[in-house]
Amino acid sequence: MSPLAPHFAPRLIAWQREHGRHDLPWQNTRDPYRIWLSEIMLQQTQVSTVIPYYAKFLARFPDVAALAAAPVDDVMALWAGLGYYTRARNLHRCAQTVVEQHGGAFPASVEELAELPGIGRSTAAAIASFAFGARATILDGNVKRVLARVFGVEGFPGEKKVENAMWTLAESLLPSNASDDEVSAYTQGLMDLGATLCVRGKPDCARCPFAADCVANVTGRQRELPAARPKKTVPTRRTWMLVLRDGDAVMLEKRPPSGIWGGLWSLPEAADEAALAARAEEFGSAGGVCRLAPLTHVFTHFRLDIEPRLAELDRGVGALAALGDGQTAWVALSDLDSFGVPAPVRKLLDSLQGSLI
Ligand code: ADE
Repeated sequence: MSPLAPHFAPRLIAWQREHGRHDLPWQNTRDPYRIWLSEIMLQQTQVSTVIPYYAKFLARFPDVAALAAAPVDDVMALWAGLGYYTRARNLHRCAQTVVEQHGGAFPASVEELAELPGIGRSTAAAIASFAFGARATILDGNVKRVLARVFGVEGFPGEKKVENAMWTLAESLLPSNASDDEVSAYTQGLMDLGATLCVRGKPDCARCPFAADCVANVTGRQRELPAARPKKTVPTRRTWMLVLRDGDAVMLEKRPPSGIWGGLWSLPEAADEAALAARAEEFGSAGGVCRLAPLTHVFTHFRLDIEPRLAELDRGVGALAALGDGQTAWVALSDLDSFGVPAPVRKLLDSLQGSLI
């Protein structure tokens, strides 16, 4: 256990009381309806955006019964502009559930709250601690950042194993024998620290109550903690592309309708160097190929390493090589705009334009 652990809650509560936020519209109340409404709105949205919506909702729906009785379209209309509209549908369903199954009163336990539509474990803890003084921890993105930095939690917090370890850590840090007000200050302190000092970009460690103990601050790893989402390692494919030129024109081939670059015009390809040379000869270029700078294109599911090779059409066979089957075309480099050409191929051809004439 970190030597800081026993001091974490009292120090956070003291900091919140002196330096935290105290005048947000959903503070200074224990009304679970008002707290719930704010927490749902704040799930994916910044405080400054939420404030006017929060006021509008409370004016129109002063309590959970009013919200439950409203047509869902009215709720959606009032929510318009806040985004993540599933939240609005769940908000309405939740209000109806509270009225129908809980007699119009929000349940006080984290477990029961978390069963209501739109309320996850962290939101349930926020409501339970603010409205009912429950000793329950929140763990949203901001809190994960604070904990990862202060306690040096390694690993990407979106990964289940890391997230579970963070829930365990967060629970172990909760204040013991705390009054309702202390519980509220603690929860609010976690939010305030993450929103005002321990921010993602440039944390204000000089003003942080945990600066002396914070693993990230002490070791200068604020930018590395929490760890970023690991990059997916994608498989690599390699292809050889033929830039077959005839004067200022190159030969393009129409790709099959499905698969990557389906239906676009691209360069003829081959699976290796020898196969490419053979294709160049088939097309009427006996003089061999020369190497161009390789390039890489990253798709969602794989990486494509492209080995381009330049070949020149032998004099006089240009007409022959235009196969007239609609699947190949000689295209002037200045006329590429009239053909759908994949971006990396276009880049390759553009880079050649100056040097080909
Ligand atoms: N973000 C989520 N809940 C919040 C709250 N109660 N106050 C400020 N920001 C929040």
